[in-house]
Amino acid sequence: MKPSFAVLNGPNLDRLGKREPGVYGSATLADLQAALCKTATSLNVELSFFQSNHEGALLDKIGELADGGCAGAVINPGAWTHTSVALRDAIAGSGMPFVEVHISNVHKREPFRHHSYTAGVCEGVICGLGQQGYHFALEYLVKKIS
Ligand code: DQA
Repeated sequence: MKPSFAVLNGPNLDRLGKREPGVYGSATLADLQAALCKTATSLNVELSFFQSNHEGALLDKIGELADGGCAGAVINPGAWTHTSVALRDAIAGSGMPFVEVHISNVHKREPFRHHSYTAGVCEGVICGLGQQGYHFALEYLVKKIS
């Protein structure tokens, strides 16, 4: 059986392509998912996707993935990066490796985006490389378990 990984997106990332395209680009979440499916095929792994604008739904999903044997996850927590101790605890408690991704370079932006509650419980953080960052993160996770 192929190992399975997940790509998780937090609030407002369903609006990629429409939302501040100067910051986040013109590619949509569907474009991102289609491109990641190709990467997953080339890496010979299963990939599932989840996006929510509801924090509890994302917390529930992380628990489900952990209990379901998911091998690791790429997460863009969106604004919850900068606010959510609960999300940090869910990641820490999952026992799964996570890589945090941000499309924009949060360090070039407003000071409130410079702190991440979640980064300290992830394997690493990729930011500012656009949607490409998700692919790098997935490649890292697949290499890590093989
Ligand atoms: C983001 C950066 C966050 O600060 C912001 O709240 C987002 C998107 C990014 O991908 O660059 O929603 O995570």
